Amino acid sequence: MSHFSYRNGVLHAEQVSLQALAAQFGTPLYVYSKAALVENFSAYADACRKAGRGDEGALVCYSVKSNSNLAVLNLLGQLGSGFDIVSGGELLRVVAAGGDARKVIFSGVGKGRDEMKLALEHDILCFNVESIPEVARLNEVAGEMGKRARISLRVNPNVDAKTHPYISTGLKENKFGVAYEDALNCYRTAAALPNIEVVGIDCHIGSQLLDDSPLLEALDKVIDMVDALEAEGIHIHHLDIGGGIGIRYDDEQPVAVGDYLARVFARVDAWRKQKYGGRQIQVMFEPGRSIVGNAGVLLTEVQYLKHGESKNFAVVDAAMNDLMRPAMYEAWHGVKAVKEDAAGAQVYDVVGPVCESGDWLARGRELAIEQGDLLAFASAGAYGMTMASNYNTRGRAAEVLVDGVRAHLIRKRENPSDLFALESIVS
Ligand code: LLP
Repeated sequence: MSHFSYRNGVLHAEQVSLQALAAQFGTPLYVYSKAALVENFSAYADACRKAGRGDEGALVCYSVKSNSNLAVLNLLGQLGSGFDIVSGGELLRVVAAGGDARKVIFSGVGKGRDEMKLALEHDILCFNVESIPEVARLNEVAGEMGKRARISLRVNPNVDAKTHPYISTGLKENKFGVAYEDALNCYRTAAALPNIEVVGIDCHIGSQLLDDSPLLEALDKVIDMVDALEAEGIHIHHLDIGGGIGIRYDDEQPVAVGDYLARVFARVDAWRKQKYGGRQIQVMFEPGRSIVGNAGVLLTEVQYLKHGESKNFAVVDAAMNDLMRPAMYEAWHGVKAVKEDAAGAQVYDVVGPVCESGDWLARGRELAIEQGDLLAFASAGAYGMTMASNYNTRGRAAEVLVDGVRAHLIRKRENPSDLFALESIVS
């Protein structure tokens, strides 16, 4: 969070005061730091470069679901990023943002025909296929279009990511991917389809991982599978290890991105040297949170303070519809008063105006605040705005990207009339 700091007692994003942003754009407001985004992406890009890998040797495909604002996608695209998408909508966003469709990989368990068609029209790099019925459908759609679809199979390595159960995806009981034991058979089936070209292997075991050992364990299983495939004459051009590196919300100590990538490349290189005479294989990553998470805050204004016998509540103008993570995962986000060091701190639950008891954003926080003060929820850049809803007919927040002394409005605030514009009365 180094790009969000106090200057003269006021919290700033880079060199712009959050007070000034609230005055100009209103609240609730998502505020992102361009420098933080660049720094976080560079941790991946630099590690690839250090390992002597250009695009052909390593590709970072930013996971669009974590923050899909066009300005964010555009910036990352300019830095050379590819994109991991999970819907036709996300593909259209990448294209609208000027991203390179040839660097797009398409994940997700439920791809529809239209989405497949759209992705084939844009000639995306690869479909991460998650089941046999899916590859059969893709074969059909590609055939109708006179094309061949490049695929990798998402294998479920049955590795415990040791993270929140809702964001753990690599265990047998999860809906994702094909079981490790079935993968070989699935590959044989896929390789025999006329409109399918097998190019890769993929896995993603979960999100907010602090330790990389489960990821390296999954990598080892993927490596074994590539060997088994080679033995059958199925040649794998890339391996994709997914996303998942965690960030610091409170006092977590996540593995450094550069260290993790160095370990991945060391293992891959040693294996390729031993078995394939050093012939390289492209390695892909699908990071989301570790690129955008700490690059954003959610700015909100205190509406009312309610002091009760057993609890104090700070009612703010942001709610669970703006930042869903606390209600959904009991996620912890740091809360900072934008004005530093006021006297008279009290313990508050910070809650929103939505009519649900689950509408809380933070619990039991010591804050010195008054009505009208501003609060910033830290580390809200990932899975903040993208998970926002219109519950209670609340327009979604505006978004601002700060670059040094300049602030750019990158998404306007939604008006209530925008929210019912697609509806009609039956007459
Ligand atoms: N690749 C695939 C196939 C994924 O499903 C995900 C995230 C990623 C990459 C990116 O993972 P990351 O690097 O961000 O950990 N809403 C939850 C997180 C859900 C993650 C879903 N998949 C949250 O707010 O914590």
